[in-house]
Amino acid sequence: MSARRTSKWIISAALLCASLFFTAPHATAEYADVVINRVAEAAGMRPVIFPHWFHRIRFRCKVCHAELGFKMRAGANLIKMTDIIDGRFCGACHDGETAWSVENCDLCHSGKAGLPPGIFGGHETLGPGRW
Ligand code: HEC
Ligand code: HEC
Ligand code: HEC
Repeated sequence: MSARRTSKWIISAALLCASLFFTAPHATAEYADVVINRVAEAAGMRPVIFPHWFHRIRFRCKVCHAELGFKMRAGANLIKMTDIIDGRFCGACHDGETAWSVENCDLCHSGKAGLPPGIFGGHETLGPGRW
């Protein structure tokens, strides 16, 4: 390779790296928090912050995404509080035994008003009231 072609190559490699850096999706669900807000705010409650990373390091994916029926897409699940109280979805664990119970409304309904459903933050943003 000539010196000129080499430097061209270096420049385009550098540009490629830069574009990957700026366009790479850094907030993936495995590491972040999920805002769940299909019905909460409309019913007068704050949006729910589900710290995915926190749970994901404690349980296998299939516990939630197969056995408990959570679809793997933010905003895809219609979760009602009555289901949770009946022991489904979050309520399968948040029953006062495996984890603290449903009476702790604010620990789940901890999002700021107006947050749309979606994935936010990274593995440093661990859950309620932290952002
Ligand atoms: C373990 C987590 C958790 C706890 C604790 C919790 N909620 Fe929820 N709640 C949810 C989730 C998830 C939804 C669905 C949110 C959405 O899609 O908008 C929800 C939805 C709701 C809704 C929307 C309407 C409906 O009928 O579903 C209301 C109202 C509500 N919760 C009230 C409460 C109250 C009051 C408490 C405390 C007594 C409470 N929640 C405790 C997770 C929780
Ligand atoms: C404690 C329950 C739980 C565990 C364990 C869990 N997830 Fe999730 N996951 C959820 C919930 C709840 C959502 C949000 C669903 C919603 O917004 O309706 C979600 C969302 C997702 C999404 C959607 C992201 C997007 O961009 O829309 C993916 C992908 C995902 N999980 C993958 C995984 C993988 C991979 C594992 C295991 C390494 C895992 N989950 C473990 C409960 C869990
Ligand atoms: C498979 C069991 C399981 C499911 C399902 C589950 N959780 Fe949890 N969750 C836990 C455990 C265990 C803890 C830790 C409890 C403790 O520290 O005492 C926890 C803790 C939390 C915390 C506190 C995190 C922190 O930083 O301390 C929040 C918030 C939370 N869960 C919300 C939810 C919501 C919302 C759902 C449903 C979308 C859900 N969880 C479903 C097991 C579960």
